[in-house]
Order: sequence, then C-alpha cells, then structure tokens
Amino acid sequence: MDKFYLTTAIDYVNGAPHIGHAYEKIITDVIARHFSQRCDNVYFLTGTDEHGIKIQKTAASKGITPKELCDENAQKFKDAWKALDIDYTRFIRTTDEDHVKIVQKIFQKLVQNGDIYKNSYEGLYCSGCECFLNPKDLTEDGLCPDHLKKPEVVREENYFFKLTKYKDAIIKHIKENPDFIIPQFRANEVLNQLEDIQDISVSRAKSNVQWGIDVLDDPEQSIYVWIDALSNYITALGYDTENPSDKFKTYWPADVQVIGKDILKFHSIYWPAILLALDLPLPKHILAHGWITIDEAKMSKSIGNVISPTSVLEAFELETPDAFRYYMATAAPCGKDGNYSDDDFKEKVNAHLANSMGNLLNRTLSMLVKYFDGDVKEEFFVSRGSELVEGSLSLLKTALNKIDLVKNNFDNFAIAEAGLEIVNLVDITNKYVTDNAPWTLAKEGKMTECGQVLTTVLEVMCIISALIYPFCPNIAKDMARQLSFDLNKKLDDLTYENIKTGHLISKEEIKPVFLRVDSELADKSKK
Ligand code: ME8
Ligand code: MG
Repeated sequence: MDKFYLTTAIDYVNGAPHIGHAYEKIITDVIARHFSQRCDNVYFLTGTDEHGIKIQKTAASKGITPKELCDENAQKFKDAWKALDIDYTRFIRTTDEDHVKIVQKIFQKLVQNGDIYKNSYEGLYCSGCECFLNPKDLTEDGLCPDHLKKPEVVREENYFFKLTKYKDAIIKHIKENPDFIIPQFRANEVLNQLEDIQDISVSRAKSNVQWGIDVLDDPEQSIYVWIDALSNYITALGYDTENPSDKFKTYWPADVQVIGKDILKFHSIYWPAILLALDLPLPKHILAHGWITIDEAKMSKSIGNVISPTSVLEAFELETPDAFRYYMATAAPCGKDGNYSDDDFKEKVNAHLANSMGNLLNRTLSMLVKYFDGDVKEEFFVSRGSELVEGSLSLLKTALNKIDLVKNNFDNFAIAEAGLEIVNLVDITNKYVTDNAPWTLAKEGKMTECGQVLTTVLEVMCIISALIYPFCPNIAKDMARQLSFDLNKKLDDLTYENIKTGHLISKEEIKPVFLRVDSELADKSKK
C-alpha cells in the first residue's frame, strides 16, 4: 500500500458541531490512524461546507454577514476536532481561495464539454437538504421527509448538469464493484434511485442566492452548493482542470470517502457523474455510516437533546478523548445506526478500558516488579526456549492472528467489529492469567514459570497497545511507554518478541492507563 487517501463529509456551518458530526470524524480518524500503521503516506481530509441559502438565511437572522457566521462556526468545528484528537492533514473550507478558483474552473470545463446547459426550471427546493425535491418523495402534507418543512417553489433560469448521460455508466460501476458502496445493502437503494434520475439544476440565480461561488462567465448565477461541496475532495489536493498538482496525482482516487447515509445519493450518483464528466477515476469506496441517536431519540433542536462533542469530555472530567473515541467508534456495526447514552458510556468504557485492559497491564507490571524487580529474564521468553507454561505459545499465536483479523475488519471498514476483536484478545489474555495464576506459581517457587506467564502477557500487551492505538491514541502511548515498546512500528513488523530482555520498569513508573469513569463525580458536574 503506497498511499491512503480518506475524506469525511464537510459539515454545514450554520450551527455548532454535535456528536453526530463527531461520530463521523472519529471513525474516519480511527481508520486514518489504523492505515498509518500499514502505510507511510496517509492523507486525511475534513472541513466545512460554507455556502448556500441556509447559511445566508441563518446569518441574516443573526444580523451578521455570512462570512462572519462561517468564521465563527468553522472555528468551533476545528476546536472540537482538536479536543477529540482528530489528526487531519487538511481542514478545507469551501470559502478557501484555492477551492473557490478551482470550482469555477471545473464548472467552466463542464460547460465547455457540453455536460452543463442552461434551461428554465420550476422546482421545489428544500433549504435543509440544499436540493430540489421530487414531488413524489414529499410527505402526504407536502413536506420534506427529512426536515418536515414545506419546500419553496423556485422558478429560475438555471444551469443543468447532464446527469442522465452518466446513468448507465454509474449503474455498471456499482454492479461491477460490489464494494464500491459500503455497506453493500445500501447499493440496491442507490440502484433504485438511479432508475428515475433526471438532469440536475447546478446553479441558482444570484438574485435568490447571493452566498455562493459565481459562475465565471455568468455572474448572475451562483454555483449550486453540492457541486461546490463535492469538489472539495479534489480541490483540496490541488486538482486543476489543466494542470493537476503532484499531490493530486499521488492521492486521487480516494481510498475511502466517509459520509452519513442521508447524503449517499450525492456521493454515489452526483459525485461519480461529475468525476466521469471530468474524466477522473472514481473513489474506491464510499462508506455510508448510520446515524447516532441520543437515548434512542433523534437529535434535534426542538427536542433539546443536541449534545456537543466536548460536553461528554467535560461532564465526565476526562483528561483525554480516548474513552469517548472508543465508545463512538464501537457504537454501531458497519453502516448501522448507533446510540449514545451516559449510562451505557460509563458502563462500556469502565468495563472495557479500565477493568479489562488497563487493569491487566497494571496487574502484570506490578507482579513483574514484586517478583522480579521489574526485570525480564532471557528464560521467560517462550519463543526462545521451551514452553514451561502450557498455552503461552498459543496465546502469542492468537495475538498475532488478531492483527490479521483487525486488519481484515478495517479493510471492510468494519470499525466497531475491529474494536470488539481487540476486546476479545484482552479477555482471552485475562483468562490466561486467571488459568495460570502467576501469584500461585510464585508462592510455589516456580519462578521461571511465573516469569513466563508475565512476559507472555506483556508481549500480548504490546500488540494490544498497537491495535488499540487508532481508537485510544493516548492510552496506547501510555501503555507503550510502560512496555518500552515502539508504537511507530508498522503492524506487519510485530512479532512474538516485542519486549526487550533486562530491566523493564520500576514501581514508581507504573501508572494506570485509564481510570474508571466515576459516576457520582460525572453526575455532579453535569448538574
Ligand atoms: O450534509 N449521526 O452537512 P451536515 C451521524 N454539508 N452522523 C450525522 C448525524 C448524526 N446524528 N447528523 C449529521 C452536509 N451527520 C453537507 C455534506 S459533503 C461534500 C457535504 C453527518 O452538516 C451527516 O450524515 O448536514 C454528514 O455525513 C455529516 O454529518 C455532515 O452533515
Ligand atoms: Mg445534514
């Protein structure tokens, strides 16, 4: 694998980020960090979607300019991603100058190639969706099914994109590449939608939408937000209609584009059509994740249950975002909806991160100090001599095998499933400790056997720290430091022997990697 390019949806900035946005950015960051353990060249793009009638209206209602609103809110997204350790390569804003210029050239090229033509149009526009709706998709009362708002009747002279020209090619691509749309069950949905697609309006009259990118040769028109927004995935790399940058040539096509299920149509129909019109290859995978509910209810301003990404960290007084990242990344099987609740959060992270994983490392290191002054002796390594304690070699094999299982899950973008494999390895290792009771071996004077159990567990902990790193980078670093293990190692370079012979750790250097979330404390701070 010589490069890995992945993107998220770019978020609308008419409000502050919530944990639904955070969910997407966390799973994408987890994928990025995992592939950074397999490849030196990962590019992770995220950002904000800043043009359109919705932003224009929100700004007007607040008595500020659209740009002021965008600046204020884009900063909130950046701050939130920083708090969650989202380690993106570029944060693109659709108001960035380089993006605006290239979008104008893309539009111009599509006009020149005959993919865009002008026509008069009357349609029903939903500003929540930022798109025209098909009358047959409305509710019985004539409302947008997603936003439950009445769409506006728009009569305009617009530019149109010849979506129909690419219909057959897209159908063929989806059928020939069953893993283009992930999860695969969504592909049928898209094929159905493709049945009755029409050409789409790709500009709005400036008299109606001022906050948008001008059509270069026709400043009375502004470019439709979705053309503007979707293009970010290539403009960010310095795509240019005449002379694409080296960066673009290196990274495009994207290896995976992560989005929510609500905007799959735009990414699996409109976006491929634009790319085909520009004569560019299609992304390898579109990952359509499910939605996050709060206490099983849809998040909405009117219900008042919108949670900000950082409020969970604050409520539970978490020093690092690891527990929240872990919880979110494992909240839903691939492509399915997930739920957040305070109780479930506490229960899961306490069980998995504190009681099982953290405690296992802590106990093992403490015993190494107690029985061996923190020294690892040559004869403790099961891989170097004989297997004194039955099950040690097979545990190491299981651990190395888990690396492949986790890699496989990530190859299918099954993030939660990968997380569960890691937890399972922790459980198996805990069972090995219980079964072989190193404290009993020590009492019986079987010191080499005792050392072998502890060393075997520490070997596995090195592998666990590497596997958990994408989910919990701070915990993984704390684990690796206490194991003198180099976390920069690629997954394929891990072996049976990641622990060095000699002095490993002294009592003062042992530190719990994750403290239980204290329910009383958290409850108090929320009130
Ligand atoms: O759609 N759970 O922006 P957006 C999980 N600007 N994901 C959620 C969610 C929830 N409760 N709520 C929103 C847009 N999302 C466009 C995208 S891309 C070229 C342009 C996800 O702010 C949603 O599915 O409405 C989408 O992927 C992302 O957050 C941004 O949503
Ligand atoms: Mg949305």
